[in-house]
Amino acid sequence: MPEPDHAKGGYKAIVLVICSVAALGGLLFGLDQGFIANSLETLTAHYHLTVPQKESYSAILATGGIVGALLSGVLARVLGRKKSLLLAGFIFTAVSAYSALLPDLPILSACRFALGFAVGIASFVVPLYLSETAPAAIRGSMGTLFQLMITIGIFVISLSNVYIARTFVSPGTALPLMFLIITFFAALMFFGGFILPESPRWLMIKGRKQQAVAVLGRTLNGQSEIDLEISEIERVLHGPKGAGFGIIFRGYFFRVLMVGILLQMFQQLVGINVMIYYAPTIFGFAGMKGIVAMMTVPTVNMLFTLPAISLVEKWGRKKLLYVGAVAMLVTMIAAGVAFQSIGTDPAAITSTPRLILLLAVIVYIFGFAVSWGPVVWLVCSEIFPLEGREVGMTITTMVNWTFAGLLMANALTFMERHGNSSIFYLFSGFCVLAIAFVALFVPETKGITLEEMEFNLKDGVALRDLGKRPS
Ligand code: BGC
Repeated sequence: MPEPDHAKGGYKAIVLVICSVAALGGLLFGLDQGFIANSLETLTAHYHLTVPQKESYSAILATGGIVGALLSGVLARVLGRKKSLLLAGFIFTAVSAYSALLPDLPILSACRFALGFAVGIASFVVPLYLSETAPAAIRGSMGTLFQLMITIGIFVISLSNVYIARTFVSPGTALPLMFLIITFFAALMFFGGFILPESPRWLMIKGRKQQAVAVLGRTLNGQSEIDLEISEIERVLHGPKGAGFGIIFRGYFFRVLMVGILLQMFQQLVGINVMIYYAPTIFGFAGMKGIVAMMTVPTVNMLFTLPAISLVEKWGRKKLLYVGAVAMLVTMIAAGVAFQSIGTDPAAITSTPRLILLLAVIVYIFGFAVSWGPVVWLVCSEIFPLEGREVGMTITTMVNWTFAGLLMANALTFMERHGNSSIFYLFSGFCVLAIAFVALFVPETKGITLEEMEFNLKDGVALRDLGKRPS
C-alpha cells in the first residue's frame, strides 16, 4: 500500500547518516593530505630523515592516489559503491593504526602509499555515492560539503599535530598519537559505512529493482517521490552508456579532455601543496617558528573555501580563476623578493621581509581557496559529455595526483639547489601561463546546462565558447 506523502520536504534520519559518511570521506582525504606539515619535524627526529626521504615519504601518498583513482571506477562498478567505501574505510583504519606502531621506514612508506590508495578511492566514490543517494534537493550542496571537509581535515590534523608535538616532546610518544587521530576518524567511517544503504542507481544497474525501491523507501518521503526517482534512473540507464577509455580517441572528447588535464596540471603547478605540506619548513627557513608558521596556511585555506561556494555561482568560474591566479602571481613574486632579502643567515633576518612573506602566503592561500581549489574540480565535473564523464574525471584526477606528487617529491631539493626564492618565481611563472590558458581555452560553465554544453562540443564550437547558449 503506498504511503501518504505526509512528510514531504523533511529529510529522514538516514539522509543525515549518508551526509556524515560523506563528510568523513572528505575529512580523511584532508587528514592525510594535511598530516605532513606539522609532523615532519617529529618524523625527522624519530626516523632521522634526509631531505629526499622527507620528500618521498610526503609524495608517496600521491602515488597511491594515482593508483586508487585509476582503479576506483572499476571497484565502484564491480563491488558497488557501499563496499568500495567500506574497503577505503578499512584501509584507512588498518593502515593508520599500523603506522602508529612506528614500523621501519620502508613499511611506514608502504602504509602511506596505501593511505593514498584509499584517498584515491574515496575521492571518486564518495561524491559518486552522494550524487546517487542524497535526495535531489541537497545533491549540489553535498558536492561542496566534500570540498569543505577536505580543508577542515587539513586544519584539524594540523592543529592536533601541533598540540601533540608540544605536549609530548618524545617523538616515540608523539608520532603514534598523531597516527591514532587519523585512525579514530577512519574507524568512524569504516563502522559507520555498514549502516549505509547501497546506492539505488547501482542496484538498478545490476537489475535489482526491488532492492533499489526498498532503499529509496528509506531515504525518500512517500511513494510518488520513489516512483519519480525510479523512472528518472531508468531514463538515464536507457540513455547513452559509459563509453570506456576508447572515447579519448574521439576528437571532440580529446579537446575537452585537454582542458581538464591542463586545469588540473596548473592547479598543482601554482604550488598549493608545497604550501600545504611544507609551509612550516619554509617559514622556518625565514626564521619563523611557532603557531603562526604552523597554522596560518590551514586556517586561511579552510576559511576562504566557504565564500567560494556562493561566489562560484555569482561571479562564474572564469572570473574566479583570474582573480585567484592574479592574487597568486603577485604574492609569489612578493614571497620570492622577501626570500631574496632574507638571504641565508637566520641571525640577520629583519622583521620586514618576514612580514611580507607572511602576508604573501596569507593572500596566496586566499587566492587559491576561493578559486583554483574548488573551481577546477567543479569545471572538471561539468565539461565532459555524459558517456565519457567517468573516463574524463578519472584521467583528470590522476593528472592532479601526478603533479601534486612531482611537486612534493622535488620542492625542498629544488629550494636547496637553486635558492629559496627560486621556487616562488617558478610558481609565479606558472600563474602567468595559467591565466593565458584560462583566457584562450577555458569555457565559462556558469548558467548553462550540461546538455547544451555537450551539444556545442559535438558541434565543433571553440573550447572557450562551449558555455555560450547554442543559437
Ligand atoms: C587540491 C589539493 C589541495 C587542496 C587544498 C584541492 O583542490 O586538489 O591538492 O591539497 O585543494 O585545499
